Amino acid sequence: MHVAIIMDGNGRWAKKRGLPRIEGHRRGAEKVEKVVEWASDLGIDYLTLYAFSTENWRRPWEEVNFLFKLFVEFMKKKVQRMKKEGVRIRIMGRREGLPDEVLDVWNWVEEETKDGRKITVVIALNYGGRAEILDAVRRIVKDGRKIESEEDFREYLYIPDLPDPDLVIRTSGEMRISNFLLWQIAYSELVFLDKYWPDFEKEDLEKALEDFSRRERRFGGIR
Ligand code: IPE
Ligand code: IPE
Ligand code: MG
Repeated sequence: MHVAIIMDGNGRWAKKRGLPRIEGHRRGAEKVEKVVEWASDLGIDYLTLYAFSTENWRRPWEEVNFLFKLFVEFMKKKVQRMKKEGVRIRIMGRREGLPDEVLDVWNWVEEETKDGRKITVVIALNYGGRAEILDAVRRIVKDGRKIESEEDFREYLYIPDLPDPDLVIRTSGEMRISNFLLWQIAYSELVFLDKYWPDFEKEDLEKALEDFSRRERRFGGIR
């Protein structure tokens, strides 16, 4: 089972409380630690979390900077504990444009947690679905590779062995995809939650899974 989450609404969560947006991001990061625990307890094999999109560069540089700082701090603080719990962390996105310190942490956490077998947590960072497809096409052209099938194409995605998400959850009430995993979500079930990310609780995850279990997936066929 692969659950992917668009963690949205940190800014509005903070605004509602008269706090700066970065405070919302701080609370959002705390929630990341929790959701990894919950997902692992619930037996989810893959958890993908959308942390920073290729479009999020449009925000004020102070906020962008803070988000990268938060990523670095979070990893440095939490990786050993997660490693003990059998978490494998993978980062997915475009490396170009990211600060060196972020790239160093990227390489380090992947190496450090590569033997984790309980759950794989994928952090989508500087990630865009269109960028991923474009990057794939560029590499295909460079390799002079002939693509005969979807499987051939998949080899060129950022993480080729990542199964497609079964379920995508978006918080904050927005009902859009915002350039998340465009190739991979072709047949994912979608759950939109009217709640800001820092308010996300274990019950919300359980409820989304329950909702998912009642969906009838047909993949274009008939039952
Ligand atoms: C999601 O929260 C986190 C990121 C996109 C980095 P937002 O920062 O988008 O919060 P809202 O949507 O403005 O409330
Ligand atoms: C999607 O949220 C990206 C992440 C959660 C990292 P955004 O807040 O960037 O999406 P839009 O701008 O509302 O579509
Ligand atoms: Mg948002």
